[in-house]
Amino acid sequence: MTATGSITVAPCSRIAGELRMPGDKSVSHRAAMLAALANGSSTLSGFLASEDCLNTLSAVEALGAGVERDGTTVTITGTGGTFRPAEGALDLGNSGTGMRLLAGLLAGQTFETELTGDASLCSRPMRRIQEPLEAMGAHVTLTGDTGTAPMRVGGAPLHAISYPLPVASAQVKSCILLAGLYAEGTTTVIEPRPTRDHTEQLLRGMGVPVNVDGLSVSVDGCGSQGPQLTAGSITVPGDFSSAAFWIVAAACRPGSQVTIRNVGLNPRRTALLDVLKRMGAGLSITPTSGADAAEPIGDITVDGSPLYGTTVEGDEIPNLIDELPLVAVAGAMAEGATVIRGAGELRVKESDRIATTVAMLQAVGVQVEEAPDGMTVTGGPVSGGASIDSRGDHRIAMCGAILGLVGRGPVDVVNVDCIATSYPSFWEDLDRVSCRGKDNVTFVIAIDGPAASGKSTVAKRVAAALDDAFYVDSGAVYRGIAWAALERRVDVHDADAVARMLDELDVGFFTRDGAVGFGIDGVEPGMAIRTPAVNNAVSPIAVIPAVRVQVVKWLQGMVSLGTLVMEGRDIGTAVFPETPLKFYLDASPEERVRRRHREMAADNAIDEEEVGASLRRRDKIDSSRKMDPLQVASGAVRIDSTAMGIDQVVDTIVAAVERDGGAWR
Ligand code: DC
Repeated sequence: MTATGSITVAPCSRIAGELRMPGDKSVSHRAAMLAALANGSSTLSGFLASEDCLNTLSAVEALGAGVERDGTTVTITGTGGTFRPAEGALDLGNSGTGMRLLAGLLAGQTFETELTGDASLCSRPMRRIQEPLEAMGAHVTLTGDTGTAPMRVGGAPLHAISYPLPVASAQVKSCILLAGLYAEGTTTVIEPRPTRDHTEQLLRGMGVPVNVDGLSVSVDGCGSQGPQLTAGSITVPGDFSSAAFWIVAAACRPGSQVTIRNVGLNPRRTALLDVLKRMGAGLSITPTSGADAAEPIGDITVDGSPLYGTTVEGDEIPNLIDELPLVAVAGAMAEGATVIRGAGELRVKESDRIATTVAMLQAVGVQVEEAPDGMTVTGGPVSGGASIDSRGDHRIAMCGAILGLVGRGPVDVVNVDCIATSYPSFWEDLDRVSCRGKDNVTFVIAIDGPAASGKSTVAKRVAAALDDAFYVDSGAVYRGIAWAALERRVDVHDADAVARMLDELDVGFFTRDGAVGFGIDGVEPGMAIRTPAVNNAVSPIAVIPAVRVQVVKWLQGMVSLGTLVMEGRDIGTAVFPETPLKFYLDASPEERVRRRHREMAADNAIDEEEVGASLRRRDKIDSSRKMDPLQVASGAVRIDSTAMGIDQVVDTIVAAVERDGGAWR
């Protein structure tokens, strides 16, 4: 796999829609190999036409099977038990499954075959299959530098063995069982933990008994003439590991809903669902296959909700091994720590997936601690403006795209061509479930500035000019808390009492008439947040760290509603520091006093001096508080509106959004 291609993925407001997954990769590889050995013609429907699986098809064709493909339907005419020698080496591309399983089948042939692959595959450990195959009497030569492919295999008779697997690996288990079909006697593999059992299911489906006793799996060998497999129809279920990207994307984004149809639900593959349920995900599963189906199939519906950290270890690990980078992504989007342990096997996947996952999360500003056999991810904001290099690993490339989709800013994913090895229609599916705002983009326009600088009037007008953007008055949220404290007679200077009250408040946000509104314990406070009492209470409320932390979280969560025009004091510095669309609106103190006085004079006989004193007091509190004081955000466009009309200010901002917003696509 050449390491090329890059793409920028921008956040989107909701992940929603219905998808059908491409065929299961593991089942596609295995079905192609076994059908190639069967007596007669088999039809594989839902076959995964990815680079990896197409390489396996070419390999079995080179070994004597007849192969005809029409999209995802493949007809394979089997050789009746043994392969024919291939001309030249067989190239399995990027696929560990392709190489390790085929090596098992080829070990028992009367001739030698050379197997090779891309640089990544030729760096993955092959001694783990060489050792048991040699114990069976096979000839296996690894010609790579360090116990790696290219390899030559086959040309010697095999005898059965009983082999305790040193690592839980479905590929090694399958390799030994497939070689066992050509041995004399009963070959048994003893697993340290249960791993995926697609090989066993397919063999049974094709008439070859497989005995399972706890963690022992056995097949009876047929000697060098090979097994008698019955050809037939094989339905490849939708790939759970591909579905997993959308399951996690939707699960961690409140307001999202995705349904994925016809997904393989083999319990040895779906431990991710248990993990996500523990994290608080909204999942519902509807089985669609008959009770006697070899591989259970069903529809999965995911509703986004807040997630919480969890621990993943032990027997769960082999059953979500491919999904562990995604568990880390979910952990980044969750509250608290997500711990992954006992997953050292990840270090020898298409990349060292512990290292690549850690680097990926660090690139987007997430705190993560690497361990020899896993990692600990601390949930926190997933920042944009980052670049993630997949290092040629398809699952890391797709995880990078998901981080761009669910995080707080666009992510450049570098080396994305590898995605074609397992999920060629990934980008189409990403587009299908990305619900974006105007021009297919969701973004945040941050407008900060001092009191009476004209922010709210300008922000409302900018939101209206952008058609489908929502205006957010962040000050109103602080005012809402101040109002709630006054209503409940909580002392606004008592930070602990306010924090306790905040814990108990039920605050919900909604969109109406182009703006985001809120209710507190089911009541919309409306104009009650604009009274003199609230004016006085809001400043002490807004300096309480617990209040600021909570409000910042609420404001950040609003990205799931769509494009936002948010005004306040800390939007560009603390709430959305990654947005490229930051503005700082100012006007001379005299002009601000004049504007505020004009506003108030309409219904109040208040003198200008008093207004000036109050503004100066608020300026001082806003810009001198310890946490997130009012200041010009880095990269913000400063607009001094002293001598400008509203229209002019609005036009300046809209023009900048239309110019720079394009960079988010
Ligand atoms: O914009 P406003 O006057 O309605 O804001 C009310 C108070 O809330 C103001 O005194 C400062 C505070 N506030 C804040 O600290 N951070 C924001 N992003 C918005 C408002």
